[in-house]
Amino acid sequence: MYSPTGTTRKVVEAIIDGLEIQEVHLVDLTKPSVREQIIGRIYEDLVIFAVPVYFNHAPREVVDILEGVEGEGKPVILLAVYGNVGYGKVLWDLQEASQEASLIPVAAATFVGEHSFSHPEFPIAPGRPDDEDLHIARDFGGRVRNIMDGIEEPSLASLDPLPWKMPFLSRMIPDSFARYATREPRIDLEKCTRCGTCVKKCPVQAIDRSTLVIDGNSCTRCFACVKYCPATARIIAFKRPRLLRWFFSKHASRRRSARLFLPKNPSE
Ligand SMILES: Cc1cc2nc3c(=O)[nH]c(=O)nc-3n(C[C@H](O)[C@H](O)[C@H](O)COP(=O)(O)O)c2cc1C
Ligand code: SF4
Ligand code: SF4
Repeated sequence: MYSPTGTTRKVVEAIIDGLEIQEVHLVDLTKPSVREQIIGRIYEDLVIFAVPVYFNHAPREVVDILEGVEGEGKPVILLAVYGNVGYGKVLWDLQEASQEASLIPVAAATFVGEHSFSHPEFPIAPGRPDDEDLHIARDFGGRVRNIMDGIEEPSLASLDPLPWKMPFLSRMIPDSFARYATREPRIDLEKCTRCGTCVKKCPVQAIDRSTLVIDGNSCTRCFACVKYCPATARIIAFKRPRLLRWFFSKHASRRRSARLFLPKNPSE
């Protein structure tokens, strides 16, 4: 699981709840130290691979980790959480990477999470995943459990190729758009208590531990430091607020719901 601002984590936890699994081994790829370890062989009976959507794709460094796994035919649930704009090619990316890793996708889903760029004056899917989303996630976990209990070989439940959808405008947006539209977060030194939370939460170690200055080249604009700062001392800085407002009001104002992809239960 990769989850800088914690929405993907919430959905994963709800799915695990629904699966009613006793022993869970949570690998938090958000932490740089965990990403550096080679995951290699999978010993668990079922894998959940969960990522946020970054510009219609899964974050590349996390897909590379999935591709490197030795899955040995173990079943995998693929999950993408996006900020109510669109999930683009993510499930497709993850399905391809699973094949590379000899993992067998048995179910997949997309859920909506509060957009990383959202803040009180500029809300984008605020508070998502909400109770309704988490209820769907638990129910999804339960349905996967029922299907898994009814089959012997995971390949029997293998999914059809997963869909992808990239509206024309989305295809025009380069990966560098976050840097084009936003600056690295600012800091209000009068509010800052120097608690170090932002340093710990940054998934790419872009914040200097002693000066708290952000390296703008490493910063991915995930805004985890803003969302987790207990003193609201980190501030999102948009370079082109009018363009962003126009974009999000056009593409993120309608409430989108979870999409679930499940195989047919052979015993049905
Ligand atoms: C660099 C970047 C690119 C993003 N691209 C998209 C996108 O293409 N579509 C979308 O709906 N949300 C997009 N988002 C929003 C995130 O997918 C969304 O907020 C997600 O819930 C974040 O997951 P997390 O809380 O687990 O970090 C993007 C966020 C960032 C930081
Ligand atoms: S999390 Fe906020 S208060 Fe804590 S060090 Fe970072 S900016 Fe300062
Ligand atoms: S410094 Fe940049 S990459 Fe690090 S948490 Fe803040 S926004 Fe994310």
